[in-house]
Amino acid sequence: MKILLFRSSQILTCKANNGKFKRKTELNDIGLLENTSLIIEEDKIVDITSAKNFDFSKFDLVLDCHDKVVMPGLIDAHSHLIFAGSRADEFEMRLDGKSYEEIAKKGGGIVRTVSATRNATKKELKKLALNRISEAISFGITTIEVKSGYGLDYETEIKMLECINELNSEIDVDLIPTFLGAHTIPPEFKDNRKDYINLITDRLIPEIVTKNLAKFCDVFLEKTAFSVDESKKILSRAKENNLQLKLHCDQFNSIGGVQLGIDLDVKSIDHLEMIVEKDIKAIAQTDIVAVILPGVSYYLKIPYAPGRKMIDEGCIVAIATDFNPGSCTSQNLPLMMNIAALYNGMKLNETINSVTINAAYSLGLENQIGSIEIGKQADILILNTNDYKNLIYYFGKNLTQTVIKRGKIIYERNNRMRPKF
Ligand code: NIG
Ligand code: FE
Repeated sequence: MKILLFRSSQILTCKANNGKFKRKTELNDIGLLENTSLIIEEDKIVDITSAKNFDFSKFDLVLDCHDKVVMPGLIDAHSHLIFAGSRADEFEMRLDGKSYEEIAKKGGGIVRTVSATRNATKKELKKLALNRISEAISFGITTIEVKSGYGLDYETEIKMLECINELNSEIDVDLIPTFLGAHTIPPEFKDNRKDYINLITDRLIPEIVTKNLAKFCDVFLEKTAFSVDESKKILSRAKENNLQLKLHCDQFNSIGGVQLGIDLDVKSIDHLEMIVEKDIKAIAQTDIVAVILPGVSYYLKIPYAPGRKMIDEGCIVAIATDFNPGSCTSQNLPLMMNIAALYNGMKLNETINSVTINAAYSLGLENQIGSIEIGKQADILILNTNDYKNLIYYFGKNLTQTVIKRGKIIYERNNRMRPKF
């Protein structure tokens, strides 16, 4: 299959100078090309050209992009999209003045979703996830990191990861599985935390590695979840078993998570709403990605991660949804970009690189996706606008026209952009 995206008003290449990620002022460069065409052959980008004349008969499909924007498919580098049940009642409690942490302490929060997820069959979980994946695609997302962490027992953690892996082979977009058995201590282990941690390190991690069920291991390091020492034990075991590492920390309290992440050379440190200055400076000296989650700050009304400061200091910043049933119920990644611009202090172009090339790097996929370059996988988002700024300027709007994954059209809004030749 050979596709021509003909004369796009704007192509955003998001190509990084080092081929991996962008930091500092390079984050302002989105690689804008005007009136340019893109050629896809099978699953790859094979040409990016300003040529004006084409023999259209040489293509299986020609999409007229003269008033459209072509950019890399968006990458949601942090999500919890597989879960059962709803916590709409907890949202209502929050409107009555209860905080997320108070609700969690009284048996709500993560453990509520855990019991619903334990009770769900694999078929039910997959169906729920599939609906959410379709929604993600409608926002232009072509790769999604998905965490376990609503099982918190041997069977359900494995069940969640199996669902993610099965779905991955059944659908067009890519799901990147992350093991988050250390999301919180399950109620039945409240008085013997050590046993739960041993279950993670001695049974779950080896099984997950043997069955190749996850690429990453993640831990929620927080006063109400896992301590620095506990997190270190879990992540070190994961590392010995060749899993790559991620870390949720500094969401509510800054208790040493960032330093641990740096010591263990994790791929990304996520949340960072409460990060302190010295830790920003420390991350900036590394190639670890700081993944910020603007939707969580919005939805929980907690402080916003200091995106501006992070970028100015030199951190590699990515933006993700953190879609989950408690702290961010939106999958609209362009909305997160708008929030990041207004409340995390980021510039418009910085938000674009944060959901493309830097997000790809945070998943170790920068060689395949995240930018428009010859030879890269054809994961493309076509926006129904002639100016990319509209993607961030409008909020809550969906500008997705067409989504292409590995050279295949997987989503199209309304009528196809067939040329009238
Ligand atoms: O990333 N921080 C911990 N976990 C999720 C929230 C999960 C939930 O409330 O169900 C998060 O925000
Ligand atoms: Fe999360």
